[in-house]
Amino acid sequence: MCHYWHSSNVNSFLILGLQDILVVKPPKKSRMLLRTAVLMFSMACSIFIFSVCLKQISTHARTKFLELNIIEKPSQSTVIPYLHYPEPVSFRRNECARNPVLFFAILSNQRSGSGWFETLLNSHSNVSSNGEIFSVIGRRKNASSILHTLDKVYNLDWLNSASKNECSAAVGLKWMLNQGLLEHHKEIAEYFDRKRVSIIFLFRRNLLRRMVSLLANSYDRYAKLLNGTHKSHVHSAEEADILSKYKPTINSTSLLDDLKDMEMRSAKVLEYFNSTRHIILYYEDLVRNPNKLKDVQQFLGLPQMELTSRQVKIHRGPLSDHIHRTGMMLTRR
Ligand SMILES: *[C@@H]1O[C@H](CO)[C@@H](O)[C@H](O)[C@H]1NC(C)=O
Ligand SMILES: *[C@@H]1O[C@H](CO)[C@@H](O)[C@H](O)[C@H]1NC(C)=O
Ligand SMILES: *[C@@H]1O[C@H](CO)[C@@H](O)[C@H](O)[C@H]1NC(C)=O
Ligand SMILES: *[C@@H]1O[C@H](CO)[C@@H](O)[C@H](O)[C@H]1NC(C)=O
Ligand SMILES: *[C@@H]1O[C@H](CO)[C@@H](O)[C@H](O)[C@H]1NC(C)=O
Repeated sequence: MCHYWHSSNVNSFLILGLQDILVVKPPKKSRMLLRTAVLMFSMACSIFIFSVCLKQISTHARTKFLELNIIEKPSQSTVIPYLHYPEPVSFRRNECARNPVLFFAILSNQRSGSGWFETLLNSHSNVSSNGEIFSVIGRRKNASSILHTLDKVYNLDWLNSASKNECSAAVGLKWMLNQGLLEHHKEIAEYFDRKRVSIIFLFRRNLLRRMVSLLANSYDRYAKLLNGTHKSHVHSAEEADILSKYKPTINSTSLLDDLKDMEMRSAKVLEYFNSTRHIILYYEDLVRNPNKLKDVQQFLGLPQMELTSRQVKIHRGPLSDHIHRTGMMLTRR
């Protein structure tokens, strides 16, 4: 009986479709089997349709940019062609002169976790990430001042507290998308390709949470909640509690526009620097999955190390705890 089903009916089921099955009149027991099969088939169909609908609904709510980048594809290739042997003028590399150095740049939006990410990187004994060098307007006045600054960084001559000096194996900086990067993208992309600089794109998936982070930060800048000093990054759970007591009020009209602006900037930078070697990271993945940091170290050609940061996340817990509002936008997600 079973054999009968396997050899003939399964085939006709596949080839001729549902109608033919219903026409066939097999013995009683196999009719049961047939009913079960049809039932299962229709269940599978409806589950499939349901899941497709769900997917469409959820992607519909996102911006176009995020849809495009759900499939991440870091243009991974071997690191060797990207290694350099810089000869700084301000010091000698001494025992590490024979160690190669990789050049990188972290491109990110404000409040996307890039500060936290950079402290993690700098906890590696061979990484020198020099912070937001281009927050100083003079350095990004025109393309030539930008390239001049980059030259200094990648020649290991930009010295600050993050510099590992002679034994740096990866050197770079953190660069916000609104710090001259888009205005001078042609010259910068050309420079990155010529100098074989690798890019780490760091984005944040949850746009609303980033908005809360941005708003809270600007409020804190104004109110100076913590002991009269502005702290955009906090170092203790206690301080985080003080800051998270502030619940920003959100203007939903301007909120969507602001989010769109940020996403447009991210989409543009991905397009402009498409041909440069890069990896795309999402803050949420880094928080959830520590193995992502191994990918980053591999991308930078570093010996693997445990990376640590003293920075504590300010806005923990469900988002609704942090917002004074019962708007449509919040309940929909
Ligand atoms: C760029 O700005 C610097 C001053 O920051 C100036 O000396 C230089 O001439 C400018 N270059 C161009 C091409 O405008
Ligand atoms: C990393 O730094 C240490 C010293 O802190 C040095 O001994 C080692 O050679 C460096 N590794 C690389 C790959 O540059
Ligand atoms: C400032 O902070 C310290 C601990 O960080 C605390 O002991 C002190 O009371 C605070 N001062 C004020 C004026 O809040
Ligand atoms: C919200 O933002 C829009 C656009 O920026 C502005 O026209 C409106 O007055 C704002 N509403 C409130 C309550 O601030
Ligand atoms: C990047 O460039 C390649 C071809 O060079 C193209 O196929 C791809 O669509 C581009 N991606 C984006 C996001 O622009």
